[in-house]
Amino acid sequence: MDSNEITGRIKQLKAEKNAIILAHYYTRPEVQDVADYLGDSLGLSRVAGETDARVIVFCGVHFMAETASIISPDKKVLIPAWNAGCSLAASITGEDVERWRAENPGGLVVCYVNATAEVKAHADYCCTSANAVKVVNSLPPGRKTLFVPDKNLGAYINKLTGRAMELWHGDCCVHERIPASLLLQKLEEFPDAEALIHPESNGSHDDRVLAHPRAFISSTAGMIARAGSSPAGQFLVATELETIHELKKKNPGKEFIPVHPTTRCGQMKKITLERVLAALEEEQYEVKVPDDLREKAWIPIRRMLEIK
Ligand code: 13P
Ligand code: SF4
Repeated sequence: MDSNEITGRIKQLKAEKNAIILAHYYTRPEVQDVADYLGDSLGLSRVAGETDARVIVFCGVHFMAETASIISPDKKVLIPAWNAGCSLAASITGEDVERWRAENPGGLVVCYVNATAEVKAHADYCCTSANAVKVVNSLPPGRKTLFVPDKNLGAYINKLTGRAMELWHGDCCVHERIPASLLLQKLEEFPDAEALIHPESNGSHDDRVLAHPRAFISSTAGMIARAGSSPAGQFLVATELETIHELKKKNPGKEFIPVHPTTRCGQMKKITLERVLAALEEEQYEVKVPDDLREKAWIPIRRMLEIK
């Protein structure tokens, strides 16, 4: 089957099975193009909670499909590649969180959604890169807080909120390749460009980057919105490179230059068009968070979704 035939069959099966395809901006362009909804972590979580579809085909990594299963337990959530994992999510366990709690009685734990359901179940609040500052600002000041698992996003939030959260030492192996020195060098090399920087990037919390007039730090959806509203015609992209597909689609007259040539998430690329079709045909691979774990993990996610 060629890609047009695969796309046609996917559309047919979607209708027959009352399925919806959700895809993250980091998936392959051809996968993004068959999605009913393309989004970042926060956007995808919200759609998973609102859809009437019977089946959700989640084109993203495992923790994202788990989040969809927690939010929509009555839906059948499928991930086309069962082994699409994440370096950040793999950096911490629920036991690690409990060890910190034992050493810090009364402390609060804020968990970036890029974590397993098991870790979320041990947290007080969840957040995404889009709402992290809002979530942390809503917490009582002066209360000892641990932020897990991303050290870069945590350091960025500390700078923006003036909090001093303790940070777990996890990182995204893709965004870790973007240090402040590279961002500053590229901003100098391209004097008319604005830099769109994901806060998971290693350089996002550097004071020189934070103070730079042409540095725009935000979640993926925020970057896409900014590229449309900014008067700039040229952008340095400091995030996963597939984001450029949507940036170009929405802004055909603007130029997007990767800050680093290899910031690709191999885990997201495991989702291919063929695997999306197989997921629909075979209704595989189902991601179902067990009820007892789901009930616990739902609490910090619900708290996050309630913060508008
Ligand atoms: P957002 O989707 O929240 O921007 O997070 C980026 C990411 O690394 C997802 O894997
Ligand atoms: Fe995990 Fe980074 Fe890949 Fe996102 S881009 S799924 S955080 S490894």
